[in-house]
Amino acid sequence: MEFADVVKARHSYRGFLPKAVDEKTLKEIFELANWAPSNCNVQPWHVHVLSGDACNNMREKMKAAAVKEPSGNPDFPWQGKFSGDYRERQICSALGLWEHQGVTREDREKRAWSWMRNFEFFDAPHIAFIFVTDEFPELVRLAGDTGMYAQTLMLAMENAGLGSCPQTSVSCYPDLVREELGIESRFKLMMGLSFGYVDHSDSANNLRTDRATLEQSTTFHS
Ligand SMILES: Cc1cc2nc3c(=O)[nH]c(=O)nc-3n(C[C@H](O)[C@H](O)[C@H](O)COP(=O)(O)O)c2cc1C
Repeated sequence: MEFADVVKARHSYRGFLPKAVDEKTLKEIFELANWAPSNCNVQPWHVHVLSGDACNNMREKMKAAAVKEPSGNPDFPWQGKFSGDYRERQICSALGLWEHQGVTREDREKRAWSWMRNFEFFDAPHIAFIFVTDEFPELVRLAGDTGMYAQTLMLAMENAGLGSCPQTSVSCYPDLVREELGIESRFKLMMGLSFGYVDHSDSANNLRTDRATLEQSTTFHS
């Protein structure tokens, strides 16, 4: 695919087939993602990729954790609320997803189901957890680096015929992930990324989001 086609073809997919991605492809994708830029090339991302039993086991434990403790205990707590244009976009994003999942705003039960799909990893056969170490005072910038990494990773996946969904939701249970995978507490969970072959029969995958115009986002000076 042409670069622009890959960028525009990537979407957040929320329904996957059970078919696993082969190991060679997995390694190629994650190797490519390592070429993301970072502050002073420190490459602060620490990535754990779960497949097979490891993924299924984590899915079951995370679903149970989400039922027991809905707000979890994220390393990076949600702070404040969006307002203005940001709030409007946030609402549009939620309403768009619910519409494609057959959920109405008034139906609390189905809304809870929609949220719970996050912890089912949208049935994906793989999930990647992206951690960043908290040892350095540059945490905000290092967090930005993990975004560079995640986008590079998602584009590499798209280019390989795979779909992905970045997920802050699954970062609500960092202690569970660290415990299951034997990860030290200095590694903080930034996000998860469910991925695999897209289930095109899942209506959630028909959602297409829009973007602000160039004029709204970008000012050119000369
Ligand atoms: C860092 C990050 C975290 C996200 N967390 C979630 C999440 O927990 N659950 C979810 O369904 N979508 C999540 N999304 C997907 C966004 O809703 C999505 O990227 C946005 O609506 C734009 O749509 P698109 O990715 O299809 O272009 C996340 C996206 C990013 C970049």
